[in-house]
Amino acid sequence: MFYWVEAMYSYFRQRHSFALSLFSGLFLLGQIGLSLFVAQSSFAQTPTTPPPKAVEASSDLNDPATEARIGELLKKMTLEEKVGQLVQYSAGQPTGPGTGRTNYEDMLTKGEIGGLFNVVTAKDTNAFQHVAVEKSRLHIPVIFGLDIIHGFRTEFPVPLGISATWDPQLAERAARVAAREASSTGIRWAFSPMVDIARDPRWGRIVEGSGEDPFLGSAFARAYVRGYQGRHLGAAESILACAKHYVGYGAAEAGREYNTTEISEHSLREYYLPPFHAAVEAGAGSLMSAFNSLNGVPASANPFTLKKILKSEWDFRGVVDSDWTSVAELMNHGIANDGATAARKAFLAGVDMDMVSSLYHDHLANLARSGEVPETELNDAVRRVLRVKFALGLFDNPYADEKKESSSMLLPEAVSLSRDIAERSFVLLKNDLLPSASPLLPLSADVTSVALIGPLADDANSMLGSWAAQGRPQDVVTLRAALVEKLGASRVHYAKGSEISDGTDAQLKAAVDAARNSEVVILALGENAPEMTGEAASRAHIDLPGRQQQLLEAVVATGKPVSLILFSGRPLTLPWAFEHVPAVLAAWFPGIQAGPALARTLFGENIPTGKLTVTWPRSVGQIPIYYNALNTGRPAAQSAAGPFSNGGDKKYVSRYLDESNLPQFPFGYGLTYTTLRYGPTELAKSELRLDWLREGLTANSGNAPAPLLVSANITNTGSRPATETVQLYVRLQGTSVAEPVRALKGFQHVAIAPGETRRVVFSVTPEAFAFWNDQNTFTIEPSRVTIWISPDAASGTGASLEIRNKTNP
Ligand code: NOJ
Repeated sequence: MFYWVEAMYSYFRQRHSFALSLFSGLFLLGQIGLSLFVAQSSFAQTPTTPPPKAVEASSDLNDPATEARIGELLKKMTLEEKVGQLVQYSAGQPTGPGTGRTNYEDMLTKGEIGGLFNVVTAKDTNAFQHVAVEKSRLHIPVIFGLDIIHGFRTEFPVPLGISATWDPQLAERAARVAAREASSTGIRWAFSPMVDIARDPRWGRIVEGSGEDPFLGSAFARAYVRGYQGRHLGAAESILACAKHYVGYGAAEAGREYNTTEISEHSLREYYLPPFHAAVEAGAGSLMSAFNSLNGVPASANPFTLKKILKSEWDFRGVVDSDWTSVAELMNHGIANDGATAARKAFLAGVDMDMVSSLYHDHLANLARSGEVPETELNDAVRRVLRVKFALGLFDNPYADEKKESSSMLLPEAVSLSRDIAERSFVLLKNDLLPSASPLLPLSADVTSVALIGPLADDANSMLGSWAAQGRPQDVVTLRAALVEKLGASRVHYAKGSEISDGTDAQLKAAVDAARNSEVVILALGENAPEMTGEAASRAHIDLPGRQQQLLEAVVATGKPVSLILFSGRPLTLPWAFEHVPAVLAAWFPGIQAGPALARTLFGENIPTGKLTVTWPRSVGQIPIYYNALNTGRPAAQSAAGPFSNGGDKKYVSRYLDESNLPQFPFGYGLTYTTLRYGPTELAKSELRLDWLREGLTANSGNAPAPLLVSANITNTGSRPATETVQLYVRLQGTSVAEPVRALKGFQHVAIAPGETRRVVFSVTPEAFAFWNDQNTFTIEPSRVTIWISPDAASGTGASLEIRNKTNP
């Protein structure tokens, strides 16, 4: 049985010519297969089917006939009409501080608007579109956008939850569903995916991304782009993706929303830029410039990241949209004292379209007239906007089919996909053995009664997640509804216990009574999705809000076996819970099928397989805490990582006096209903030649090496089947810049039956050993390499090899 492996997929997409040279195969690859594979006791020899070639969308943005049409159109446009294409407003429920505009029809008639967003029905998009197409002089259609973050009407788990599946194909399928639903209303632009690397769970927007790792984040970035854009942007059900927020937004100091960032060029290139690059390579037609200041230069006026890296190094041909009023915010940042300067700086830095602030509308034409903004640059920005409009087919089909709209929503296959993804997103954090020697979860379907307690047990609104687009509470099946359906009302003793941020003694007492009167307890605690997670939702205390901790302790004190389901958009620091509650499941916000997915998981019809994509801290004082950290000059030994207690030579190491260095749970962590044993990592070679690796990396054929085979045995030592996400990590030592103690370079999903041992093999390509060196060049250097095949970022027995120069054997 074979599994799709993102490592190789990424590799072959990015290094196609190298791949071809391998395929033309001078050596052994015919047998080895060009992907990671799994076999029992011996290597499987058949190649996997390569995943479908990703979007052709990049060619949609590179079509000579379209460029010629744009050229003709540009010749006819006045300066004001050109600027109009670069102006975008919210014309519905605002998602930021107000726009101050209402005269959109008038502006559309004059050709002063290129894009609108937050307009959500076919009737409304069509109404605006009729004005743009029929009343404006050049009949240029408007493009409608929306924050489609984890579904349009069919809500899926929040992106952090989707990432916990470690299965980018699921993200692609969810994005495809969202694209179908949204496009039926005339919305052809998703302000998604959010590909910000986030290492700080205080930052509310950590919920919108795929976690802390650039390799996994890149895999998800590609997948979302493929899902939204499909094979061709021009297909009726394709919508434009927008990778955001470019760049560094996730590094907001102290996790405080919209805060400043300082990121070295090395860290930018190694950690923060890769998911954006992956999105661009997958054909993303737009990027959104971020709110944050980046090394003193706001990201929405940063020529280094926007012009040099994005538009020049990566040859990006799509649109850079500002974030909501981020052009005007340049004045608050302190790099512009008036609107005209803000507009000029943002525009010259490479921001093509001005979302909401209206400063391009007010100043760009004058700036062009005065020569402060060269008309060639104006033409380039307008060309980019027109390019995506042509690619989407808006000039030929500007209107939504109002009859199609209602029949496109919540299709049965979309709803069942939402449940599947939810089931795969749950991360089992703890599952203690009961006195009977079996773990608490899964529960037996014969259970006599269940106390279902907690403010999230029946909260449809929160199940919709942090950014619910058109999701509606009535679409949701809550945990309470699903348990009643499964067990019958008489076996479910429901008590709310508290509100999310509040609660009464009477609520608490009723909950304790329900627990006492039941065989087992399911506690549903956590955050309020729309208010406490997502944008403008940073928290300094990331524990249970309100009286929930009190509720938890009171219920646990009853002595009944408690399974805690955490609903949250971030890891929560809950040391008491992790010590005292026997079973804990991170459910994130699971979407419209929250209840059925959870009920099936709690009772063992679904086996939890999710793994963390962010490090889970013990305390806020540890943050930022992330697995791919540098070692420091005075690393603390693992054994010394507990709270400091001794003096002597243990004092002068990198540690806290009052807290462990270790996280509560490491990146990649997640239990399942069985137990697994990993054997040591084995390498097929003890050294690799630098020149061959470099040839492989730069796609020169010649001496490109065969991928390195890395393997380990994994045994299912329990009594239930497992589908394990096996991870491959690499550490490089002896390099010109310090590299992380571990960096994820591959993963695969492996089914292992009870008692079975499977040999997992990764076929590791040169890119796994490449990094941004002291010259900010992506290269491979002579180094000592340690490689782990492991269940998470903190365990496994690694093996080492040397990368040597051929002259220095
Ligand atoms: C601000 C957010 O940062 C961004 O993600 C979103 O797309 C825009 N508002 C539009 O709602």
